[in-house]
Order: sequence, then structure tokens, then C-alpha cells
Amino acid sequence: MQILDGKTLSVTLQREMADEVDQFLADGKRAPHLAAILVGSNPASKVYVGHKIKACTRVGIQSSLVDLDAEITEEALIEKITEMNEDPSIDGFIIQLPLPRHINPEKVILAVDPSKDVDGFHPTNMGKMALGIDTFVPATPYGILLMLERYRITTSGKKVVVVGRSNIVGTPMSILLSRNAPFGNATVTLTHSRTKDLRAQLLQADIIVAAIGRERFITRDMVKDEAIIIDVGINRIVDETKKSGYRLVGDVDFENVSDKCSFITPVPGGVGPLTVAALIKNTLKAYKNTFK
Ligand code: GUN
Repeated sequence: MQILDGKTLSVTLQREMADEVDQFLADGKRAPHLAAILVGSNPASKVYVGHKIKACTRVGIQSSLVDLDAEITEEALIEKITEMNEDPSIDGFIIQLPLPRHINPEKVILAVDPSKDVDGFHPTNMGKMALGIDTFVPATPYGILLMLERYRITTSGKKVVVVGRSNIVGTPMSILLSRNAPFGNATVTLTHSRTKDLRAQLLQADIIVAAIGRERFITRDMVKDEAIIIDVGINRIVDETKKSGYRLVGDVDFENVSDKCSFITPVPGGVGPLTVAALIKNTLKAYKNTFK
């Protein structure tokens, strides 16, 4: 069994990108700039945005955090987005999800200029991604592709089962892995809450991508020998031995499943850090597009 070490790989990718930024600066160009909008004070969202801002600093990318009150109206948020669309000093920006319940995320995503949509969530970018046209690929699936690439894990002809059909992870992941492209060409089954006999599906999988959001949901009896497991879940569970009072576990019961796998991502330290590296890659792409 080999651990897919997302943390170390993310550091490597960030170092590569830092070299690239250094070169732009040496050529007399301005630094790239990523902005993040955070609405309200969801503790997990604050942590994730913090990781993204810190990564920007490491790579030499300017960052700004727009911290908005949880009570902000949808109209005021969209006005802020329009301002950022029109601000030439910003190459790309994200709106950290989830949003408070009174705000419709679809309307918000539609308001983002697709050329600055470094999350790749706008329908224009989702559509391009689905058609295999070069664009911003959502950071979590993109990070997973980078992981497969760097660990030389091939997908062609393999049976992949993706668990969870979210717009952010499951749906784009299933499309990317089935494309006729590098790190595609897999036979993909997208499973969800209405899937009958998930265990039978999973037992056939060469690769499992778990993006359900339920702690340790995938157990030893659901995984075939030598399977490759990509665990996207980040679930907080109570742990009185920790200062914070909680610890993070994935959607896979790592402790009991890992010795059966050929490769598996840990939580934390697997997919999460690569999501950050992928977002930074998309930001560099947006920046470079401004010179075209
Ligand atoms: N919430 C969970 N994952 C993501 C992500 O990739 N981008 C944004 N903006 N919000 C998220």
C-alpha cells in the first residue's frame, strides 16, 4: 500500500509555480492577483480560505480577502462581484461555498466573469470542460488529476466509481475521467444517494473517488483488493484528546481499508492540499491569459 501524499506534492507544485512567478517578475511584469470572497463565518470555510491565501503568499501571488457579513443581500454580493469583474488588478477570484441560505449560489456563480472564474464553476467553464475545450477545471477534480499524473497512475480502460454527484466534485470528476484525454479514458460510474447496491458497484472499482461528505462511509467490505482510493471527504468528528475538540476524517474508513489498497489518499494531507495547488494553477492561467 502506498500513501498518496498530497501535502508533499502540493509543496512541490507550489515551488514550481513560485519559480514561474519569479520569472514573470524578473521580466518586469506585475504579480498575479487572486481575490477570495468569504460570506459569514463558517469555521471550515475560514480555514480553507486561509490555506488558499497562505499558498498565494508562498507562490508570490498577491491575494485579497473580501470578508462579508452573513446578512449581506444577494444583490449587494452580486454588486461586489461585478466590481471585481471590472477591476483590472484582479486576475481571478472565488466565492467560498457554501453561502448563507438566503443567497442563491447559482445566481452568484452566474455573475462571475468566466475569464476570472478560477474555481471553474461558471456554466461557460463547466461546458467547456465537458467538451474538452481548454478552460479552468474545478480545483478539487483538477488536483486529483495532478495527483494521478505525478504518481503515474493510469486511468485508461480502468473502472472508476465516483461516489457523490456534486457540481463541485463528483459531476466534473466523472466527466474528466471519461474524456478522451490524458488521465481520462476510464469507464466511469457516477453513484449517488439513489444508487442501488452501492457495495456491488464499489467492489468492481479499480479506482474509487469518494465525495459523499459522510464520515468513514466506505468500509473494508466495499473495496476490492489493490483498489486505488481517492478520498475527498473532510469531516469533523469529536475528539476530546485534541485541543480543538475535533479531528478530521475522510469518507473512507482509512484505518480498516488502507492495507487492502494499492494507493490511498489520507485525510488530512491528501486531496485537500492539492485543491489549493490546483486553484493557484488556475490563477496563474488567468494571469497569463491577460497577456494574450
Ligand atoms: N467549498 C468547498 N470546496 C470549494 C471550492 O473548491 N471552491 C469554493 N469556492 N468553495 C468551496
